Amino acid sequence: MVRLKEEYAARTLEGKVALVTGGSAGLGAEIVQRFTDSGACVAIADVKAPESGDCHFTRADVAHAEGFAAAVEAVIEDIGKLDIIVNNAAIQPHGIPLEDTTPELLDRVFHTNSHAVFYGLQLAKKYLSEGGSVINTSSFVGSIGAPNCPSYAASKAAVDHLTRVGAMELAPKQITVNAVAPGLILTPAVTTIPNNPEIRFIEERTPLGRAALPADIAPLYEFLASDAARFITGTVIPVDGGLSAGWNRYDLSPPLEWVDGQWQS
Ligand SMILES: NC(=O)c1ccc[n+]([C@@H]2O[C@H](COP(=O)([O-])OP(=O)(O)OC[C@H]3O[C@@H](n4cnc5c(N)ncnc54)[C@H](O)[C@@H]3O)[C@@H](O)[C@H]2O)c1
Repeated sequence: MVRLKEEYAARTLEGKVALVTGGSAGLGAEIVQRFTDSGACVAIADVKAPESGDCHFTRADVAHAEGFAAAVEAVIEDIGKLDIIVNNAAIQPHGIPLEDTTPELLDRVFHTNSHAVFYGLQLAKKYLSEGGSVINTSSFVGSIGAPNCPSYAASKAAVDHLTRVGAMELAPKQITVNAVAPGLILTPAVTTIPNNPEIRFIEERTPLGRAALPADIAPLYEFLASDAARFITGTVIPVDGGLSAGWNRYDLSPPLEWVDGQWQS
């Protein structure tokens, strides 16, 4: 995986135990690496095994409550506690408009992308240590309307609101709940699509002029999981090169009052 050249300065997660869903590939694998480099003991729950690393791994489909619960219980049993859950696993059926979205696909998307976050919050309320943290992976399309990915976009909007209501429910245990909303990330889910038109489209509209690498996104997860973020909860934070901040192009001409660099009134 391509990584930014940078030093991981501090072991901000020393002594903490984290579970990352969808940690075997893409952004999840980068979060696993970042957390490990920051001193955490990291476990992965994924339908497929990681290609490398020696993390605690449970093969689990987190779209099913029992599968997710089994992964959490395995961590508690094998490692002794759980401080951080990263609800990151998702499927991304882009390029499938309303008329092509079958009831089966809609169910699958919501179970994987939204129900799993709900289950993660339930499990966090039951099992997470006092002062722990939950970090959900949302998306820029969870808050911006766009055609051709209605099921995915709606499932991520649900993640945003689950983040807010989850923060309310878990606050009594001093557990924070936040979401990260990335722009386009160059993970296999995106780069393996032949001639993927989304890459150029997003690059042209992103003020910083490029799609993200996983290493652009993972540092915020580390921060949100650290004690330094203990008073931040209920937020959805964009990490998107400015994509959601506004239009990076706005064609305008000055009005007639603007003459030779002076406002004429
Ligand atoms: N790639 C992007 O451009 C982008 C942009 C915004 C948000 N996101 C979000 O980032 C997260 C990671 O995306 P990615 O691009 O790294 O995806 P990816 O497809 O590369 O990796 C997803 C991982 O989740 C696992 N997974 C899928 N369904 C699962 C299930 N039911 N149970 C357990 N594991 C499961 C997969 O096996 C895989 O390892 C997702 O939540 C995605 O919606 C991605």
